[in-house]
Amino acid sequence: MVAVSFVCLGNICRSPTAEAVFADLVDRVGLADQVTVDSAGTAGWHVGDPPDARAVAEADRRGIAMRSRGRHFGATDLATFDYVLAMDRKNFAVIDQMRGPRAAHVAMLREFARTNPGRFDVPDPYYGDDDGFVEVFDLVDDACRGFLDHLVDVGVVRVGAGVVW
Ligand code: 4NP
Repeated sequence: MVAVSFVCLGNICRSPTAEAVFADLVDRVGLADQVTVDSAGTAGWHVGDPPDARAVAEADRRGIAMRSRGRHFGATDLATFDYVLAMDRKNFAVIDQMRGPRAAHVAMLREFARTNPGRFDVPDPYYGDDDGFVEVFDLVDDACRGFLDHLVDVGVVRVGAGVVW
């Protein structure tokens, strides 16, 4: 089993989008019994809350259902998860400070992007307009495909011959 957690600030916009997109991808390529997918926020403001309606609407438009509830990221998550993928540099820095006996691979999601990979932020869409949620979905979708490429490349998961994503 490989456990992946996506982390943003509030856990109602970016990381739940990544959770839903990656879970859908994992399911479509037949890895649902090998990969668990989660998300969390470095702030605790939205614990128990459903995702932001604008994120839900954009995901719905792309055929993806979002069912997560807000969860606060904690230091113990670094022992629980194999991969902790931060949405932006601020979230990365918060996670990085929770050092201790950390077992997880900690990275920024866009390091795995197929298009223009690097230590770039998935921009926080919360105080912006609907276009921000379209951009978030596009960035997350591309990077989730690239992250699955990575898991296959390093031999963490194996996908059946001829399966594309
Ligand atoms: P997220 O977006 O980190 O992508 O979930 C935000 C959600 C809520 C807030 C900020 C960012 N907030 O200030 O409540």
